[in-house]
Amino acid sequence: MIFGKKKKREERRIPSVYEIYENALEKLKLRAPGYTIRHAREDDLDKVREINLKTLPENYPPSFFYDLWSSWGKAFYVAISPNDEIVGYIMCRVEHKPGFYRHFLVRSGHVVSIAVLEQHRRRGLGYGLMAYAMKSLHEEYNCEETYLEVRVSNIPAINLYKKLGYEIVKIEAHYYLDGEDAYVMARPLP
Ligand code: COA
Repeated sequence: MIFGKKKKREERRIPSVYEIYENALEKLKLRAPGYTIRHAREDDLDKVREINLKTLPENYPPSFFYDLWSSWGKAFYVAISPNDEIVGYIMCRVEHKPGFYRHFLVRSGHVVSIAVLEQHRRRGLGYGLMAYAMKSLHEEYNCEETYLEVRVSNIPAINLYKKLGYEIVKIEAHYYLDGEDAYVMARPLP
């Protein structure tokens, strides 16, 4: 049964990180002219925290943002609008954990948080931030997999992750403080 499931996953055709990255650049050129994605700098972190507070119920103290930035800054990106404002971010952590696709410890890129301000959505920035981060998780941190948690009701995010080759591998019951379940979604890299 387990092996059957594993085989099915291996047979699933998922776009490579490089394909996704190329798609992201194309999408941004067409749908987000004037926007850019770059590595976060230390002086961006207050604005990142502000966006997190505005867009998500999962919030953290400033030290949490700083720790992720200082430890895994190559997979911490911000999206910048044409008038030079930060309008989105993604931050990740590299973990050693039992793999979803291999039966031993792997380096896994955990997408801890991603958000784009409402008025800048549906331009490909979420896809772009994920593409940049996934490429860095693979190239800079040698991650063999990537995973994340998402509320089962968060259809925009679930659609985004599916488009990026993630699949639901587990349900964490009552994962969130308000009692909502999470899907754990994962994919192999690259
Ligand atoms: N409804 C359905 N599908 C959606 C969607 C929506 N409202 N928003 C995005 N998607 C899917 C679509 O497949 C979309 O591709 P398309 O526009 O070519 O159809 C794909 O995701 C990529 O969309 P993109 O424009 O790159 O995403 P975005 O910049 O709007 O950002 C989120 C997506 C999830 C980051 C954004 O909605 C957000 O910040 N939400 C609040 C924070 C959040 O929920 N974060 C995730 C926590 S796990």
